[in-house]
Amino acid sequence: MATWRSPVYWGLLLLLMWVGVCSSVCVEVPSETEAVQGNNMTLLCISCMQREEVYAITNVEWYYQPLDGNRSLIFEYTEGKPREVTSPFKGRLQWNGSKDMQDVSLVLHNVTVADSGQFFCNVNRTLHFEAHQHSTASHVKIELTVKRIKGHDFTSKLSEIMMYILLAFLTLWLLVEIVYCYRKISKAEEVTQESVTDYLAIPSENKESCPVPVEDQ
Ligand SMILES: *[C@@H]1O[C@H](CO)[C@@H](O)[C@H](O)[C@H]1NC(C)=O
Ligand SMILES: *[C@@H]1O[C@H](CO)[C@@H](O)[C@H](O)[C@H]1NC(C)=O
Ligand SMILES: *[C@@H]1O[C@H](CO)[C@@H](O)[C@H](O)[C@H]1NC(C)=O
Ligand SMILES: *[C@@H]1O[C@H](CO)[C@@H](O)[C@H](O)[C@H]1NC(C)=O
Ligand SMILES: *[C@@H]1O[C@H](CO)[C@@H](O)[C@H](O)[C@H]1NC(C)=O
Repeated sequence: MATWRSPVYWGLLLLLMWVGVCSSVCVEVPSETEAVQGNNMTLLCISCMQREEVYAITNVEWYYQPLDGNRSLIFEYTEGKPREVTSPFKGRLQWNGSKDMQDVSLVLHNVTVADSGQFFCNVNRTLHFEAHQHSTASHVKIELTVKRIKGHDFTSKLSEIMMYILLAFLTLWLLVEIVYCYRKISKAEEVTQESVTDYLAIPSENKESCPVPVEDQ
């Protein structure tokens, strides 16, 4: 709730805006780790190149490890082509990497709760300099949690319902109060009316001893 106040948030926002302006700058932004069942999820993996000007060959392997199982290959990018391998995700993965191969993200379509687990993005890059080659490797781990419903929507729906219930209750209470007051007032008026007539019915010589005062005479 208070995160928007924190300087870290504003710093990050400024950084993102700055990145948006100078799009040539590469920033290794971490992936989202929460998805909602039925949605599409971008498994973001960014591996920035240290030297843009050199010729590089990039190979990528994406692995998946379920909560209670072994790690297995689900997607790879080799020899300049993306390739989906046989896995429980086959048909639901889409390459969304950038041309310069600094963004090597995947989109997972129609996420299910069973997709929760760890995704690993391994990037090998060989930089070709004039006289030598230089290899780099980077590893990104994404711990994916899949929710059945959008939590925020659920709580906001719930508070909305609570608000309506409260409103209905308050209206009802107000009505009851009004009716009660009205009846009380009319009863009191009746009583005054009766006492006035009683008072008037009393013989005049006894009027001074009557405890009921009558103002308007
Ligand atoms: C997911 O992606 C598919 C294919 O691009 C699209 O048809 C579908 O509408 C997307 N679903 C959601 C929930 O965004
Ligand atoms: C990266 O290099 C390591 C070691 O040579 C190899 O085991 C791994 O499969 C390579 N990964 C990719 C994505 O090419
Ligand atoms: C994980 O791998 C080990 C050894 O390769 C194997 O014995 C085990 O059955 C595997 N577990 C699952 C859940 O596939
Ligand atoms: C795929 O990548 C492009 C640019 O790299 C981005 O604009 C787009 O939002 C990405 N698609 C998804 C589904 O993340
Ligand atoms: C998403 O997956 C569920 C269960 O795996 C399936 O019933 C549903 O038809 C799928 N939706 C789309 C748009 O592919």
